[in-house]
Amino acid sequence: MDKFLIKGGVPLRGSVTISGSKNAALPILAATLLTDEPCVIRRVPDLSDVRFMGEILESLGAQVEFSSGTIRAQAARIKPHGDYELIRKMRGSVCIMGPLLGRLRRATVSLPGGCVIGARPIDLHLKGFRSLGARVTIEGGYVHARAPRLNGCDLFLGGRAGSTVLGTANVIMAAALADGITVIDSAACEPEVVDLANFLNAMGARITGAGSPTITITGVRKLHGAEHDVIPDRIEAATFAVAAAITRGEVTIKGARLEHQQAVADLLRQAGVKIERSGPEFTVSRAGRLKPVDVTTQPYPGFPTDVQAQMMALMCVTPGISIITERIFESRFMHVSELARLGAEISIEGPSAIVKGGQPLSGAPVMASDLRASAALVLAGLAARGTTEVNRVYHIDRGYERIDEKLRQLGARIERAKET
Ligand code: EPU
Repeated sequence: MDKFLIKGGVPLRGSVTISGSKNAALPILAATLLTDEPCVIRRVPDLSDVRFMGEILESLGAQVEFSSGTIRAQAARIKPHGDYELIRKMRGSVCIMGPLLGRLRRATVSLPGGCVIGARPIDLHLKGFRSLGARVTIEGGYVHARAPRLNGCDLFLGGRAGSTVLGTANVIMAAALADGITVIDSAACEPEVVDLANFLNAMGARITGAGSPTITITGVRKLHGAEHDVIPDRIEAATFAVAAAITRGEVTIKGARLEHQQAVADLLRQAGVKIERSGPEFTVSRAGRLKPVDVTTQPYPGFPTDVQAQMMALMCVTPGISIITERIFESRFMHVSELARLGAEISIEGPSAIVKGGQPLSGAPVMASDLRASAALVLAGLAARGTTEVNRVYHIDRGYERIDEKLRQLGARIERAKET
């Protein structure tokens, strides 16, 4: 296993190019199962989660080639039965269910478990499949869905925490090949859902309203192959924006879309961070003192749960009291105890973390627990005095393409080493 060794205290300077979005790429790759024709997906980030999705597609019978950021996938003949162990390993793999059900009218997929950030049920995905006419049962750890016919329906897909991103993706993909019209209300509005809908429409689907809470899908008989460029990763861009702010640096973020980051940009500005757009890129810098913020995570366009940990790292170095409330996942505060090892003062009260910021951070060995928590530890390490050792960086490799290299190009002193 790899670890990062970070010597903090260097203001990051220069420019960084953002990779394609992991969370857009995963459902788009799953969508290639909807046709027997070849698909070409470009700007795919080279990440362990993405390679893993490639393996899952192959295990279902598809041919997948990944080279220089482009995936060519063809699912000429596929089976409806996913490999238990393979699918169980990555929660995002749940989004193969919609395409299998749409194309083959049946799907058997291992029930994804919870993970460190929360219980992560899939009841809303299953509600959607049932509404389309599927019979869904759970047996032996597998979800079995069968639908001799899939019929368009009107469906409310909101849950306890609001909309569901992969649930919306799953229902759209099944409904794309259903008979008749499906209207999803309380659909997820995330840019990744829009990107999926754009790809599906390029394949011949008829989807309108993606990006709004009401999405209408008019089922078609068949989808064809298509080519697509994945949108830039808004969470990676936000992470580099925080990296610039936390190190008092100045970083130009290229290839991202500021319009996908309004909530993050607004909060950073409230905190005293300067963000200046210039054409397709934006520059993040910090001139004066930072100010504490209060923020609650919400579905898009609200402040993303996937940037909560990184923002907490920034608030650790910001004098004053910040309150960060997590409303999407019930236990997404695994980074708190690790940030404390670096000297941060954070207490948890219910869904809120109260950060008493401004104490100097000093390097220490810490443990990455999940993808975004690991990003927060790297950010804190960049700001800390001395050396921070972030262990188990395979978590970060799941979702950030070459983050150590990209940070080094900005001047950070970060090395990858083997854990002993
Ligand atoms: N939920 C239900 N029932 C369901 C589905 C979801 O109650 O059937 C609840 C969840 O427990 C959670 C909320 O709804 O409280 C939102 O979960 P959502 O379904 O939107 O999450 P997801 O689709 O499984 C994606 C991203 C996550 C990101 C969330 C929220 C992918 C592969 N994953 O997960 O990304 O945090 O949306 O934006 O797209 C990450 O990249 O680090 C990551 C965890």
